[in-house]
Amino acid sequence: MKILVIGSGGREHALSWKLLKSEQVEQVFVAPGNGGTAKLAKCQNLPLTEFPDLAQAVTNYDIDLVVVGPELPLSLGITDYLQKHTQVKIFGPTRQGAQLEASKSWSKALMQSAGIPTARGATFTNSRDAKSYIQAQGAPIVVKADGLAAGKGVTVAMTIADAMEAVDTLFETNPKSLVVIEEYLEGEEVSILALTDGQTIRSLVPAQDHKRIGEKDTGSNTGGMGAYAPAPLVDAELSKQIQQQVLNPVLKELQKRNIDYRGVIYAGLMITPQKQLKVLEFNSRFGDPETQAILPLLETPLEELLLACANQTLAELPPLSWSNKTAVCVVIASGGYPGQYVQGKIITGIETAEAQGVTVFHAGTKITPEGELVTAGGRVLNVVATGENFSQARERVYQGVACLDFEDKYYRRDIGYRLTQNS
Ligand code: AMP
Ligand code: GLY
Repeated sequence: MKILVIGSGGREHALSWKLLKSEQVEQVFVAPGNGGTAKLAKCQNLPLTEFPDLAQAVTNYDIDLVVVGPELPLSLGITDYLQKHTQVKIFGPTRQGAQLEASKSWSKALMQSAGIPTARGATFTNSRDAKSYIQAQGAPIVVKADGLAAGKGVTVAMTIADAMEAVDTLFETNPKSLVVIEEYLEGEEVSILALTDGQTIRSLVPAQDHKRIGEKDTGSNTGGMGAYAPAPLVDAELSKQIQQQVLNPVLKELQKRNIDYRGVIYAGLMITPQKQLKVLEFNSRFGDPETQAILPLLETPLEELLLACANQTLAELPPLSWSNKTAVCVVIASGGYPGQYVQGKIITGIETAEAQGVTVFHAGTKITPEGELVTAGGRVLNVVATGENFSQARERVYQGVACLDFEDKYYRRDIGYRLTQNS
């Protein structure tokens, strides 16, 4: 098989790395890829992002399967475009299905009509109504921009004044905004990534992300600073509830709306102290960095799974096979992220780290014309280690992290801290 992976982050490096572990996969192309995918054997970067160029590449390179990584091309209709212009199999929902992530108001309405447990909330088209709702509800309260915002469109407001300010900012930036305001929920978050072919939906092992920049979950939200899998918070009982209360109903609701969804449905869940689950959001793609922690544990060949989703044969596959190890992923970011940061810093130590047994996925890197590997983004590297248990994996991952260097690097030293806190 020849596979085209679309995207340029750590998630796409991890997907390409995993796909290439299978003998069935002859070659992977990544568009546009990064410094890490450039160095993988049997992998080639294609400097393309425009839809017509991607369709042309499908034909030129005789691609069998396209795997779409990020939400942006999905929300712009890459799947619809490739369906129209090529015969290729595609893993990733159409534009309509991608609204699950691209429009929080659409997604909220879908959850409400499917009876999926979620925070109480309402959608507003003007600041006056939004503000009187906030006054009536009181704080803490959560204000969400409707569209894609790379993890930065949500304000968890602890005071009414903060919530009002968030509403003002959203409507000042875009007077045509839709704003979702919802009840503040307390608890522990978990990410469920489920694969679907539009008829069957199967969960991968649960993972826990760390969204805040600061240790002990303080400071600004980011795209994710580290993850581990499996997350023991999701026991057999909770797992059953997630399937029955979230995954089956979301798929049924999509079917009701005639949306042919083939790809990942990612449910971001809050588990309350009473062990009740609520959906915070849906995403229409693999989580980043959750995927980097989940894929090293997967024993079923990844291309078989993705192809079964594209071919609508997921029900025919045997149950997914998983190693019983634990994986931990630590994100190394540029100092200043998620605010301003400087790019182009020389990265050293990758081979030394890998000699210690960790895997280093590249998130924001590139190779300069002089052949040097440099930083090219906020999240730069994802270091992943597996172990017999969480503490072994954590020890290994931080040994790997210690080998890596670039000027002004930043990472959280407490990935998985809730596990050690709870035990
Ligand atoms: P979202 O993009 O909707 O997942 O929101 C980003 C982050 O904001 C989540 O991962 C949570 O940490 C936080 N968040 C979102 N909705 C709520 C809520 N209703 N209550 C508390 N925190 C929330
Ligand atoms: N790690 C959060 C996300 O992928 O949205």
